[in-house]
Amino acid sequence: MNQPNFIIAGNWKMNGSTQSVATLLDALGSIDTRGCEVIVFPPSVYIQQAVLALSDGPILVGAQNAHAKLSGAHTGEISAPMLADVGCTYVLAGHSERRLEAGETNSAVSIKCAAVQTAELTPILCVGEQLHEREAGNAGQVVSGQLQAVLDFIGPVAMCKILIAYEPVWAIGTGAVAKPEEIATMHSFVRQWLIDQAGKGAAYVKLLYGGSVNKDNAALILEQEHVAGALVGGASLDIESFSAIINAARELGNAL
Ligand code: PGA
Repeated sequence: MNQPNFIIAGNWKMNGSTQSVATLLDALGSIDTRGCEVIVFPPSVYIQQAVLALSDGPILVGAQNAHAKLSGAHTGEISAPMLADVGCTYVLAGHSERRLEAGETNSAVSIKCAAVQTAELTPILCVGEQLHEREAGNAGQVVSGQLQAVLDFIGPVAMCKILIAYEPVWAIGTGAVAKPEEIATMHSFVRQWLIDQAGKGAAYVKLLYGGSVNKDNAALILEQEHVAGALVGGASLDIESFSAIINAARELGNAL
Protein backbone atom coordinates (compact mmCIF):
# COMPACT_ATOMS: atom_id res chain seq x y z
CA MET A 1 0.00 0.00 0.00
CA ASN A 2 1.30 3.46 -0.83
CA GLN A 3 1.48 5.38 2.46
CA PRO A 4 2.37 9.04 2.80
CA ASN A 5 5.96 9.75 3.75
CA PHE A 6 6.99 10.77 7.22
CA ILE A 7 8.17 14.34 7.70
CA ILE A 8 11.38 14.93 9.62
CA ALA A 9 11.92 18.59 10.48
CA GLY A 10 15.13 19.87 12.04
CA ASN A 11 14.85 23.03 14.13
CA TRP A 12 18.37 24.38 14.57
CA LYS A 13 17.18 27.15 16.91
CA MET A 14 19.82 29.82 17.66
CA ASN A 15 22.84 27.65 16.90
CA GLY A 16 25.58 27.63 14.30
CA SER A 17 28.07 29.76 12.41
CA THR A 18 28.75 30.19 8.70
CA GLN A 19 31.33 27.43 9.01
CA SER A 20 29.34 24.93 11.08
CA VAL A 21 26.25 25.50 8.95
CA ALA A 22 28.31 24.85 5.79
CA THR A 23 29.60 21.59 7.27
CA LEU A 24 26.11 20.46 8.29
CA LEU A 25 24.59 21.41 4.91
CA ASP A 26 27.33 19.59 3.08
CA ALA A 27 26.66 16.43 5.08
CA LEU A 28 22.88 16.79 4.64
CA GLY A 29 23.33 17.07 0.89
CA SER A 30 24.73 13.57 0.70
CA ILE A 31 22.24 11.65 2.84
CA ASP A 32 19.53 9.48 1.34
CA THR A 33 16.13 10.92 2.20
CA ARG A 34 14.05 8.90 -0.27
CA GLY A 35 10.68 8.00 1.23
CA CYS A 36 10.86 10.81 3.77
CA GLU A 37 10.29 14.59 3.56
CA VAL A 38 13.09 16.46 5.31
CA ILE A 39 12.93 20.16 6.23
CA VAL A 40 15.59 22.15 8.06
CA PHE A 41 14.96 25.38 9.95
CA PRO A 42 18.22 27.35 10.20
CA PRO A 43 18.55 30.67 12.01
CA SER A 44 17.26 33.32 9.58
CA VAL A 45 20.71 34.69 8.73
CA TYR A 46 21.67 31.27 7.35
CA ILE A 47 18.47 30.58 5.38
CA GLN A 48 19.88 31.69 2.04
CA GLN A 49 23.07 29.73 2.63
CA ALA A 50 20.91 26.66 3.28
CA VAL A 51 18.63 27.23 0.28
CA LEU A 52 21.64 27.58 -1.99
CA ALA A 53 23.46 24.54 -0.62
CA LEU A 54 20.37 22.31 -0.75
CA SER A 55 18.90 23.59 -4.02
CA ASP A 56 19.87 20.51 -6.03
CA GLY A 57 18.39 18.03 -3.58
CA PRO A 58 15.08 17.14 -1.96
CA ILE A 59 15.64 18.73 1.46
CA LEU A 60 13.47 21.81 2.02
CA VAL A 61 14.27 24.89 4.05
CA GLY A 62 11.93 26.59 6.50
CA ALA A 63 12.04 29.53 8.89
CA GLN A 64 11.77 29.45 12.67
CA ASN A 65 9.58 32.54 12.79
CA ALA A 66 7.92 35.27 10.72
CA HIS A 67 6.34 38.57 11.63
CA ALA A 68 2.55 38.80 11.66
CA LYS A 69 2.58 41.79 9.29
CA LEU A 70 3.49 41.40 5.65
CA SER A 71 5.75 44.48 5.44
CA GLY A 72 6.33 47.87 6.99
CA ALA A 73 7.94 49.66 9.91
CA HIS A 74 8.86 46.70 12.12
CA THR A 75 12.55 47.11 12.85
CA GLY A 76 14.43 43.85 13.21
CA GLU A 77 11.60 41.65 11.92
CA ILE A 78 11.33 39.37 8.90
CA SER A 79 8.09 38.90 6.97
CA ALA A 80 6.59 35.76 5.50
CA PRO A 81 6.76 37.14 1.91
CA MET A 82 10.51 37.73 2.44
CA LEU A 83 10.92 34.14 3.57
CA ALA A 84 9.04 32.95 0.48
CA ASP A 85 11.24 35.20 -1.65
CA VAL A 86 14.45 33.56 -0.39
CA GLY A 87 13.17 30.04 -0.92
CA CYS A 88 11.52 28.90 2.31
CA THR A 89 8.53 26.58 2.14
CA TYR A 90 7.52 26.19 5.80
CA VAL A 91 7.46 28.50 8.82
CA LEU A 92 7.22 27.44 12.47
CA ALA A 93 4.48 29.30 14.34
CA GLY A 94 3.97 29.33 18.07
CA HIS A 95 7.02 27.35 19.12
CA SER A 96 6.96 27.23 22.93
CA GLU A 97 10.28 29.07 23.13
CA ARG A 98 8.65 31.99 21.33
CA ARG A 99 5.47 31.74 23.37
CA LEU A 100 7.52 31.80 26.59
CA GLU A 101 10.50 34.00 25.66
CA ALA A 102 8.88 36.44 23.24
CA GLY A 103 5.45 36.44 24.88
CA GLU A 104 3.61 35.21 21.79
CA THR A 105 -0.03 34.79 22.65
CA ASN A 106 -2.53 32.46 20.96
CA SER A 107 -3.88 35.49 19.16
CA ALA A 108 -0.44 36.57 17.88
CA VAL A 109 0.28 33.01 16.72
CA SER A 110 -3.04 32.92 14.85
CA ILE A 111 -2.31 36.16 12.98
CA LYS A 112 1.15 34.81 12.16
CA CYS A 113 -0.32 31.60 10.70
CA ALA A 114 -2.56 33.72 8.45
CA ALA A 115 0.40 35.85 7.31
CA VAL A 116 2.41 32.73 6.50
CA GLN A 117 -0.46 31.34 4.43
CA THR A 118 -0.93 34.68 2.68
CA ALA A 119 2.68 34.33 1.52
CA GLU A 120 1.77 30.84 0.25
CA LEU A 121 3.99 29.14 2.77
CA THR A 122 2.89 26.36 5.12
CA PRO A 123 2.79 27.05 8.84
CA ILE A 124 3.82 24.34 11.25
CA LEU A 125 1.75 25.29 14.27
CA CYS A 126 3.42 24.20 17.50
CA VAL A 127 1.15 23.39 20.41
CA GLY A 128 1.80 21.80 23.77
CA GLU A 129 1.27 22.07 27.49
CA GLN A 130 3.68 22.97 30.27
CA LEU A 131 4.44 20.47 33.03
CA HIS A 132 2.20 22.13 35.62
CA GLU A 133 -0.66 22.10 33.13
CA ARG A 134 -0.22 18.38 32.48
CA GLU A 135 0.05 17.65 36.18
CA ALA A 136 -3.18 19.56 36.76
CA GLY A 137 -4.87 17.37 34.13
CA ASN A 138 -5.24 20.30 31.72
CA ALA A 139 -3.06 19.18 28.80
CA GLY A 140 -5.99 18.61 26.43
CA GLN A 141 -7.61 21.90 27.37
CA VAL A 142 -4.38 23.86 26.78
CA VAL A 143 -3.74 22.23 23.42
CA SER A 144 -7.32 22.61 22.22
CA GLY A 145 -7.25 26.26 23.31
CA GLN A 146 -4.12 26.84 21.22
CA LEU A 147 -5.76 25.13 18.23
CA GLN A 148 -9.09 26.90 18.70
CA ALA A 149 -7.51 30.35 18.53
CA VAL A 150 -5.92 29.56 15.17
CA LEU A 151 -9.06 27.89 13.81
CA ASP A 152 -11.21 30.87 14.81
CA PHE A 153 -8.86 33.24 13.02
CA ILE A 154 -7.98 31.39 9.80
CA GLY A 155 -11.12 29.24 9.40
CA PRO A 156 -11.58 25.51 8.76
CA VAL A 157 -10.40 25.43 5.14
CA ALA A 158 -7.07 27.10 5.95
CA MET A 159 -6.78 25.01 9.13
CA CYS A 160 -6.75 21.84 7.04
CA LYS A 161 -3.71 23.16 5.14
CA ILE A 162 -1.37 23.63 8.10
CA LEU A 163 0.86 21.11 9.84
CA ILE A 164 0.64 20.74 13.59
CA ALA A 165 3.48 19.79 15.90
CA TYR A 166 2.52 18.56 19.34
CA GLU A 167 5.45 19.48 21.55
CA PRO A 168 4.92 19.08 25.28
CA VAL A 169 6.97 21.95 26.72
CA TRP A 170 8.42 19.74 29.47
CA ALA A 171 9.90 17.43 26.83
CA ILE A 172 11.68 20.12 24.80
CA GLY A 173 15.44 20.12 25.23
CA THR A 174 15.13 18.18 28.48
CA GLY A 175 15.74 14.60 27.37
CA ALA A 176 12.38 13.80 29.04
CA VAL A 177 10.57 12.47 25.99
CA ALA A 178 6.84 11.86 26.38
CA LYS A 179 5.86 8.21 26.77
CA PRO A 180 4.54 6.51 23.62
CA GLU A 181 1.07 6.24 25.18
CA GLU A 182 1.08 9.96 26.08
CA ILE A 183 2.04 10.78 22.50
CA ALA A 184 -0.60 8.45 21.07
CA THR A 185 -3.31 9.80 23.38
CA MET A 186 -2.60 13.44 22.57
CA HIS A 187 -2.30 12.82 18.83
CA SER A 188 -5.66 11.04 18.72
CA PHE A 189 -7.17 13.82 20.82
CA VAL A 190 -5.85 16.43 18.38
CA ARG A 191 -7.05 14.43 15.37
CA GLN A 192 -10.56 14.03 16.78
CA TRP A 193 -10.70 17.66 17.89
CA LEU A 194 -9.70 18.80 14.40
CA ILE A 195 -12.28 16.62 12.68
CA ASP A 196 -15.01 17.77 15.07
CA GLN A 197 -14.14 21.45 14.72
CA ALA A 198 -12.78 21.80 11.18
CA GLY A 199 -14.52 18.97 9.35
CA LYS A 200 -13.55 15.77 7.58
CA GLY A 201 -10.68 17.43 5.68
CA ALA A 202 -8.83 17.56 8.99
CA ALA A 203 -8.40 13.80 8.86
CA TYR A 204 -5.43 14.47 6.56
CA VAL A 205 -3.70 17.23 8.54
CA LYS A 206 -0.21 16.00 9.34
CA LEU A 207 0.58 15.82 13.03
CA LEU A 208 4.20 15.79 14.15
CA TYR A 209 5.65 15.09 17.57
CA GLY A 210 8.47 17.16 19.02
CA GLY A 211 10.40 17.08 22.28
CA SER A 212 13.68 15.25 22.85
CA VAL A 213 13.38 13.10 19.73
CA ASN A 214 16.67 11.27 19.15
CA LYS A 215 18.04 8.37 17.15
CA ASP A 216 17.15 5.87 19.88
CA ASN A 217 13.50 6.84 20.39
CA ALA A 218 12.52 8.04 16.89
CA ALA A 219 11.18 4.72 15.59
CA LEU A 220 8.96 4.14 18.64
CA ILE A 221 7.56 7.67 18.41
CA LEU A 222 6.91 7.50 14.67
CA GLU A 223 5.10 4.18 15.09
CA GLN A 224 2.37 5.81 17.18
CA GLU A 225 -0.98 6.27 15.50
CA HIS A 226 -1.54 9.72 13.93
CA VAL A 227 2.17 10.62 14.20
CA ALA A 228 3.22 11.70 10.71
CA GLY A 229 6.68 12.88 11.60
CA ALA A 230 8.95 14.58 14.09
CA LEU A 231 10.13 18.09 14.87
CA VAL A 232 13.69 17.58 16.06
CA GLY A 233 15.69 20.20 17.93
CA GLY A 234 19.04 19.29 19.49
CA ALA A 235 19.50 16.04 17.56
CA SER A 236 19.09 17.85 14.22
CA LEU A 237 22.42 19.61 14.74
CA ASP A 238 24.30 16.34 14.78
CA ILE A 239 24.38 14.74 11.35
CA GLU A 240 24.86 11.23 12.69
CA SER A 241 21.77 11.53 14.94
CA PHE A 242 19.67 13.38 12.37
CA SER A 243 20.40 10.91 9.58
CA ALA A 244 19.64 8.01 11.93
CA ILE A 245 16.23 9.61 12.67
CA ILE A 246 15.65 10.03 8.92
CA ASN A 247 16.61 6.40 8.38
CA ALA A 248 14.18 5.27 11.06
CA ALA A 249 11.43 7.21 9.27
CA ARG A 250 12.40 5.78 5.90
CA GLU A 251 12.41 2.23 7.21
CA LEU A 252 9.02 2.65 8.88
CA GLY A 253 7.64 4.33 5.79
CA ASN A 254 8.83 1.44 3.64
CA ALA A 255 7.52 -1.08 6.14
CA LEU A 256 4.00 0.32 6.18
P1 PGA B 1 14.43 19.17 21.21
O1 PGA B 1 13.60 20.39 20.62
O2 PGA B 1 14.38 18.05 20.19
O3 PGA B 1 15.81 19.69 21.44
O4 PGA B 1 13.75 18.74 22.47
C1 PGA B 1 12.41 20.20 19.90
C2 PGA B 1 11.83 21.52 19.47
O5 PGA B 1 11.97 22.50 20.21
O6 PGA B 1 11.26 21.65 18.38
